[in-house]
Amino acid sequence: MAEEEVKLTVTIDGIPVEVAPGTTILNAARQIGGDIVPPAMCYYSTLEGSGGKCRTCLVKVSKGSEKDPRPMPKLVASCRTTVMDGMEVQNISSPEVLDARKSVVEFLLINHPLDCPVCDQAGECKLQDLSYEHGVAQTQFEFRKRTFEPIDIGDKIQLHMNRCILCYRCVYVANQLTDGREHGILGRGDHAEISTYIHKGLNNDFIGNVIDVCPVGALTDKTFRFKNRVWFTKPVDAHRDCPTCSGKVTLWYKGAEVLRVTGRKDEYGEVKEFICNTCRFETKKTADWILEEPTPVDHESVISANHYYTFNPPAVIEESKKLQEANEEQLARTERLK
Ligand code: SF4
Ligand code: SF4
Ligand code: FES
Repeated sequence: MAEEEVKLTVTIDGIPVEVAPGTTILNAARQIGGDIVPPAMCYYSTLEGSGGKCRTCLVKVSKGSEKDPRPMPKLVASCRTTVMDGMEVQNISSPEVLDARKSVVEFLLINHPLDCPVCDQAGECKLQDLSYEHGVAQTQFEFRKRTFEPIDIGDKIQLHMNRCILCYRCVYVANQLTDGREHGILGRGDHAEISTYIHKGLNNDFIGNVIDVCPVGALTDKTFRFKNRVWFTKPVDAHRDCPTCSGKVTLWYKGAEVLRVTGRKDEYGEVKEFICNTCRFETKKTADWILEEPTPVDHESVISANHYYTFNPPAVIEESKKLQEANEEQLARTERLK
């Protein structure tokens, strides 16, 4: 007879859920879904060792377990704390947690620039959302923010350290996904920074994924940088027969032009399947891809402001051709008037 699977019951913000032993509070909350899921800026389910750096996922354990119902004395990082049977957790139902989250956001913003109007991550940035939800209008920080010049790390990736929150995700990607790690976090405390040390390039085949996992606009795609605001682009799922990766991507269209290619992300902003550099940087024509459907976008996301539900590639191409023809006509008319 097959052994019965052991399940533990944990209650999060009053909602009970049954999970397997070893599940973290964060992943138990993700099984419930919705607003009670704590934000996570450094945890990434597919990257081993991730989590425990940013503290945005703090929650209150108001009952430790059925066996030992004492509450935990301090707030805990939900991405690093495993559930116990009978545990009771508070996230958005605890004023203490909301207050702590506010402080964590303030801390993350201590050295962060007011770059959103020019930052490529704007519109898909969790730090931006957190600042909106928990941030305060004024800073208490009286000192000069630490600043860095943007640097190219590799021919397709730019690092703007000012925006880095030291979540370590890019380091784990380089460690776990590529052949050789060429960057890491140098220094400690206020001196900590992402660096290749001697400004080497990041050139491994899967290194472009550091851009997708970076929760802020610190690592950006130079082939897309400053080309458009993300909410003016239309994401479409597509695939190709790629010898190196799954070839399953999201194409970000402006008219008929593919402005960027990214991995497909789930509702928590995590890439479902990492893609290779060729798919990301080298194949930016519609003809390179088999188009599937418009990427499902959360209706609350700013990206859905420009989203359409019946994607028809030839129509998009026709639309763009017409625009081009109209532009050419206009130019010719202007020339004739000269
Ligand atoms: S990383 Fe996010 S919060 Fe920071 S400047 Fe860019 S969009 Fe704004
Ligand atoms: S560059 Fe981005 S991914 Fe890397 S540590 Fe900084 S914030 Fe995290
Ligand atoms: S997501 Fe838990 S500490 Fe960052």
